[in-house]
Amino acid sequence: MKKKLFSEIPYIQGGTLTLKALAREDAEGLRELVDNPEVYRYLPTFLFEKRYDDVLTVIDRLYDECIKESIILGIFSDGEFCGLAEFYGFRDDVHKISVGYRLLERCWGKGIATGSLGLMVDYLYGDTDIEIITASTMVENRASARVLEKNGFDLVTRSSPEDWGYEEPTLADKWIR
Ligand SMILES: CC(C)(COP(=O)(O)OP(=O)(O)OC[C@H]1O[C@@H](n2cnc3c(N)ncnc32)[C@H](O)[C@@H]1OP(=O)(O)O)[C@@H](O)C(=O)NCCC(=O)NCCS
Repeated sequence: MKKKLFSEIPYIQGGTLTLKALAREDAEGLRELVDNPEVYRYLPTFLFEKRYDDVLTVIDRLYDECIKESIILGIFSDGEFCGLAEFYGFRDDVHKISVGYRLLERCWGKGIATGSLGLMVDYLYGDTDIEIITASTMVENRASARVLEKNGFDLVTRSSPEDWGYEEPTLADKWIR
């Protein structure tokens, strides 16, 4: 029997990577992530981890306030916090979900995003009734596009103007798996 996506907080493990709920002990890593403008250069302005100045408040409220339409998990490599994975924009009626990820800068270039997205896809198609997975990237974000390509996502819409919270519309590429 396939699960409904948001019926529980996922715990996803594969190789050296684990995607699981954030805990208060991850505050230091989360602080390092949210404080780095390089990480957020190609991301929307309205992400949940930026909603409160205090990252402990973010962690405490993460699974109360945002579990209905979005879940954010920590990404851990060999047990060390290295970033966030997000499931958002859940559409139960059409079995559709969008995915996102962001890593500490010191964790880039090691295949962690590619591996994490692979685990997310396997979980969604293996364990839940999700039938469509989508993702959006800023057109400039070549590394993220590559992560999607390596996981079998197809580019379906190019340079679509969207509101990502900036003054000007953001030009986004749309991907489907
Ligand atoms: C995008 C991001 C998640 C990638 O994480 P990562 O763990 O470094 O990614 P991986 O190592 O799994 O793979 C990156 C791929 O992109 C390639 N790449 C990296 N920078 C690139 C660039 N500027 N141009 C083209 N390709 C690039 C790498 O070579 C690698 O591909 P390869 O295996 O074919 O060589 C990470 O850089 C990040 O957190 N960035 C900030 C947040 C963000 O932009 N998130 C995505 C929003 S849609």
